[in-house]
Amino acid sequence: MNFNFKHEWVETNIGLMAVLTMLAISVGGLVEIAPLFFIDKTIEKVDGVRPYTPLEQRGRDIYQREGCYTCHSQMIRPFRDEKLRYGHYSLAAESQYDHPFQWGSKRTGPDLARVGGKYSNEWHVQHLVAPRSMVPESVMPNYPWLLSTPLDISDTADRMKALRKVGVPYSLSQAEYDTNVGKFGETVAKQLHIPDAQKNLVAQANFGNYDGDRSGVSEMDALVAYLQVLGTMVDFSKHTDDAFVDAR
Ligand code: HEC
Repeated sequence: MNFNFKHEWVETNIGLMAVLTMLAISVGGLVEIAPLFFIDKTIEKVDGVRPYTPLEQRGRDIYQREGCYTCHSQMIRPFRDEKLRYGHYSLAAESQYDHPFQWGSKRTGPDLARVGGKYSNEWHVQHLVAPRSMVPESVMPNYPWLLSTPLDISDTADRMKALRKVGVPYSLSQAEYDTNVGKFGETVAKQLHIPDAQKNLVAQANFGNYDGDRSGVSEMDALVAYLQVLGTMVDFSKHTDDAFVDAR
């Protein structure tokens, strides 16, 4: 029995072929993916990355609801051109609290991983209501209803509880709150405390005044708060170790 004969035999036995194909893919997958669960460097240790505040998290929900991800990625690749255009390439640590992550690969519009702080709140509001009033050649749709729709905050705590189930450290008990104080500091820990979620959300919206109108909390408030925090949590000027060397 020579090799060619065996090959033909495998290719003409569809059941056997399927089993062997699965086997080959599984081995490849295991070798590539399994080590990531065990090596320390899979998620780099960086300071500053924290879960979203209730307002930012609701903004993220709206980002998903409106399908912004169908045109915008949130992952800067480690290539020189990307770095020049968008800033430091994305780190795994930066999306560790994102469920689901928004990396994506579809870029009809620019990557948004570091759009936070790039524009003023006013710019975002105007751009979301009427993109072509800011960028005449834009193909982005208008989202005028975000400004006139009050944000539904009734289920904020439930949404945070759901995220807590998948590992986001939002706190319910005093003990969990204390752990967060140690990990993120008091100001952040307060924002992560589920029993105070609605109060914190309204306070941040009023203080930040993201939509330019303090009379209520609109969906625009939440979305702009979310956009403004993207990519701003890690201070890259402080990091000089291997994991952060410039992309070449
Ligand atoms: C049909 C594709 C499409 C969709 C859907 C879309 N955008 Fe865009 N977006 C674009 C394009 C194209 C640009 C570049 C031109 C411009 O600035 O309008 C852009 C630009 C942007 C910018 C400016 C980025 C920069 O660095 O200059 C932001 C912020 C933005 N979009 C947010 C959003 C949000 C939030 C949503 C969902 C509510 C959204 N986009 C939905 C196509 C889209």
